[in-house]
Amino acid sequence: MPLRARISAPFSAGLRLRPTVPLPLGNLHVPASTAASATSFSISDAGLASRGFTLHRSISGLNIDHLNTIFVAVGFPKRDPEKIVVALEHTDSLIWIQYEKDQKPVAFARATGDGVFNAIIWDVVVDPSFQGIGLGKAVMERLIEDLVERGISNIALYSEPRVLGFYRPLGFVADPDGIRGMVYSRKQKKKKK
Ligand SMILES: CC(C)(COP(=O)(O)OP(=O)(O)OC[C@H]1O[C@@H](n2cnc3c(N)ncnc32)[C@H](O)[C@@H]1OP(=O)(O)O)[C@@H](O)C(=O)NCCC(=O)NCCS
Repeated sequence: MPLRARISAPFSAGLRLRPTVPLPLGNLHVPASTAASATSFSISDAGLASRGFTLHRSISGLNIDHLNTIFVAVGFPKRDPEKIVVALEHTDSLIWIQYEKDQKPVAFARATGDGVFNAIIWDVVVDPSFQGIGLGKAVMERLIEDLVERGISNIALYSEPRVLGFYRPLGFVADPDGIRGMVYSRKQKKKKK
């Protein structure tokens, strides 16, 4: 299922919402000042190209079935491809890396948000055959830079405990100033009844 669409802005520019205090929504948060910048990319775009990888910043050409295969390979649940398309259409920024040899996606990360204050990063994955060679860091550095360049100062994500050490050097801190992330849990709510 190759995609040719462009990412659309999820909210109308005419919307006027009340200003909010930009609190982190996830359990890890990166202050804009500590985020990666273009000058500090661990692997340059040219370096990636010389190793047979191409960077993409839109869903054009992204094969959703192949992406879904990576999700499953890293232990994420298999998702309905049509729902993935909807999720990507409501995504503000994304980066993926394609392996030129077989044209398949091998690394991916995306961020949703309000486009001004807040963003949350989701679905950071690298094909297991390509892990450990810097591709995860490459997509994260660029995604963070894209968000910071747009003035988004509150960037959060959810991290599995085993991956905390991957996110920390990228500038993410857990529970900043003691602020804890909370997620809605239907199970918990039912229990209380
Ligand atoms: C986590 C993941 C995205 C990392 O991608 P990757 O391409 O393998 O990582 P990189 O090669 O870019 O590693 C960058 C750095 O992070 C370190 N690192 C990678 N995975 C790590 C981990 N789980 N814990 C601690 N450090 C880690 C590397 O040693 C490397 O360090 P260096 O810069 O000092 O050399 C990838 O392993 C993956 O897809 N895992 C399964 C899915 C997942 O858990 N996603 C995150 C959901 S919260």
